[in-house]
Amino acid sequence: MNILVTGGAGFIGSHTCLRLLEEGHQVVSIDNYSNSTVQSLTRIKELTSSVNTQNLKIIDGDIRRSVDLFKAFNCLDGKEIDAVIHFAGLKSVGESMKKPLKYWDINVNGTSNLLMAMSKHGCKTLVFSSSCTVYGTSKQKKINEASTIAPINPYGRTKAAVEQMLLDQFNSDPQWRICCLRYFNPVGAHPSGHIGEDPKGTPGNLFPFLMQVAKKQRKKLNIFGNDWPTADGTCIRDYIHILDLVDGHLAALRFLCEEAPQWLAVNLGTGIGVSVLEFVSAFEQATGLVVPYEFVERRAGDAAVAVADPSVALKKLKWKPVRSLRDICIDGWKWQNANPNGFNNQASIIS
Ligand SMILES: NC(=O)c1ccc[n+]([C@@H]2O[C@H](COP(=O)([O-])OP(=O)(O)OC[C@H]3O[C@@H](n4cnc5c(N)ncnc54)[C@H](O)[C@@H]3O)[C@@H](O)[C@H]2O)c1
Repeated sequence: MNILVTGGAGFIGSHTCLRLLEEGHQVVSIDNYSNSTVQSLTRIKELTSSVNTQNLKIIDGDIRRSVDLFKAFNCLDGKEIDAVIHFAGLKSVGESMKKPLKYWDINVNGTSNLLMAMSKHGCKTLVFSSSCTVYGTSKQKKINEASTIAPINPYGRTKAAVEQMLLDQFNSDPQWRICCLRYFNPVGAHPSGHIGEDPKGTPGNLFPFLMQVAKKQRKKLNIFGNDWPTADGTCIRDYIHILDLVDGHLAALRFLCEEAPQWLAVNLGTGIGVSVLEFVSAFEQATGLVVPYEFVERRAGDAAVAVADPSVALKKLKWKPVRSLRDICIDGWKWQNANPNGFNNQASIIS
């Protein structure tokens, strides 16, 4: 297939582009590199065969700019884009509380602009990066797709708004095939140690923050609250290996192509809850490192527990995660250790 990947240079986008190329697809990445670098795509080229490499087109552009999207949709010498995997967007809960309009602009207006470009080009198949933050605080042990949509921060509200926009679009034209994938906590890195997460600025998520402490770039890990209503008082999340998450996208794409046109939302998580302290301990065991930490105030916008019920993904997409927390720690550390400064670093890869 010819697949447009928005945000293709980002953490999840880059791992997905690599996998799509390995599967023989033609890939077009559009990214404005606001939270990434084109070097992630260069690294992909180094990881895959030269045949596959020729199948990667790179567009430097912003999804809010129609001219940039026009370029992306028309860069394949007359061949049409069959499907879009839409990653481009902002993802920090904390930043969204401070700069909500930026989040509504990029996440919502950006997506509406993308949908208009897709309509114009007759492309009606879309996999969208949604998030478990659309659920807000849930009393359920595991969150399923029927759980109440009640986001508690602007980031989650932009994701919920986009899901609704996509449903409206499907209702107006039922030929669309749309899958909203509600990710839980994607972490880890490609096992080669060659690509991984390289966020700009202070990371908002546990894993990249923990990595910076492990690399001694920060003195301590800040753990936001030890008075949550959980067994050890720290927040519980559902951590999923980036490669399992990527497999979920391929499964979603297959499902959309094989089944009748529809809009659906699917959780991508493991169904296993891990507290922050358990995560730190698993990381220490897997790597032999010691991670100093301190408890700080709870962070506005956080929920105590967010764990997926992944049964719809298993039933409909025939997908289930196969990698462990240990794999996450080992692969994530391999990337970080070989690239202490992210993609700008030339250090060699550890074996
Ligand atoms: N990583 C997570 O924990 C997580 C969890 C749930 C949902 N998501 C969603 O998944 C998607 C991808 O996340 P990620 O972790 O790869 O983030 P990322 O920041 O690494 O990737 C997003 C990419 O989009 C690009 N981008 C941002 N605005 C753009 C614009 N206007 N035009 C073109 N490109 C633009 C960035 O430069 C970046 O390369 C995001 O939409 C995010 O909200 C991520």
